[in-house]
Amino acid sequence: MTVLVTGGAGFIGANFVLDWLSVEDRPIVNLDKLTYAGNMQSLASVLDDKRHTFVRGDIADTELVSALLNSHRPKTIVHFAAESHVDRSISGPDEFIRTNVLGTFHLLESTRRYFESLCASDQDEFRFINVSTDEVYGSLDPQNPAFTETSRYAPNSPYSASKAASDHIARSYFHTYGLPVITSNCSNNYGPLQFPEKLVPLMIMNGLHGKPLPIYGDGLNIRDWLYVGDHCAAIRLLLDRGQPGETYNIGGDSEMTNLDVVQAICTLLDELVDGARVYPHKQLIRHIEDRPGHDRRYAVNTDKIRTELAWQVSETFKSGLRKTVQWYLNNQNWIAEVESGDYLNWMESHYGHRAAGR
Ligand code: NAD
Ligand code: DAU
Repeated sequence: MTVLVTGGAGFIGANFVLDWLSVEDRPIVNLDKLTYAGNMQSLASVLDDKRHTFVRGDIADTELVSALLNSHRPKTIVHFAAESHVDRSISGPDEFIRTNVLGTFHLLESTRRYFESLCASDQDEFRFINVSTDEVYGSLDPQNPAFTETSRYAPNSPYSASKAASDHIARSYFHTYGLPVITSNCSNNYGPLQFPEKLVPLMIMNGLHGKPLPIYGDGLNIRDWLYVGDHCAAIRLLLDRGQPGETYNIGGDSEMTNLDVVQAICTLLDELVDGARVYPHKQLIRHIEDRPGHDRRYAVNTDKIRTELAWQVSETFKSGLRKTVQWYLNNQNWIAEVESGDYLNWMESHYGHRAAGR
């Protein structure tokens, strides 16, 4: 029973592929365009694994996707591929609409045609997991309870609007065509292999280099943090037991201000880095101009996935953050390749020209 993963060279996708191959025998086909956010170094340990087939390509390429579906005959698609960084969506929204909205639409359309060619029993088993975000619900007032699966969509950034649009299109494919779509709305992930444009890895890497730690505005914006391995485990549960047509919130019940997150990283760097360039690291913190339209708070209620699917987190923020900082300290090669851009050159020489866009 093959699984097709899109965006499996990105942060969460690569963690999912590595997790999957460590516990499952089922083969995985990994379709990724290898934008700046895709990194084949993250998959180095499974590049020769016969269960893992990597294909460089765009989810919007219906000819390629149809050919992959018809040759590998997957029973499941896990759709991670996206433009994922809010700041980039503010400075250049086009690619977010192209990949997240149009790309997801084309992927759904290719999937629908393949699904309709399956026999009834294969259709019963088929699942399309649409990996989405809690940002579609917009900003939560401090006094309000966490968002539930029935909260109104109110996206505020071009990124979250593009994810909201793709969620609606995916929903329509369930209701109109009976495609067994399950959507997950997850909170902020952190962990190994995250590109250092996002808060946690950026702060770790800047801290290691003794560079300033830029905090937008007053630093009191709140995010709910989830260790990436717990997100991957939740997606595996959705594959096995999630209900088609349903949406599930996934989160860490771990709300923190950005300032508290960065201070926790500084404390770990103080403890774990031998011969640190700066000590204590918190003296590197700098408040800078705020992100335009910066959502104040995100938090999701996870009762549904916990009660219906018995999902629970395995890492607290404290244990997960320690593992994460330790991972970056132990993987200086990965960091150096990303910082120098050599990972892009390596991919060019192995997988050909970069796809259009980035
Ligand atoms: P990422 O930016 O690290 O990785 C995205 C991957 O998608 C990259 O490998 C990139 O090359 C690939 N990609 C981009 N455009 C493509 C296209 N047109 N065709 C094929 N591949 C393409 O993202 P991430 O942080 O791993 O997020 C994965 C998914 O999870 C996204 O859908 C994101 O919206 C969602 N999500 C992320 C978080 C988070 O905290 N990172 C939280 C909730 C949901
Ligand atoms: O909530 C889920 C979302 O979490 C995902 O859907 C997105 O793909 C993912 O990027 C993430 O979005 P955020 O905008 O919350 O993540 P980011 O790491 O960019 O920022 C986290 C918080 O830290 C946010 O309030 C902005 C702030 N920040 C970020 C950076 C990069 C800073 O203060 N300084 C920074 O340099």
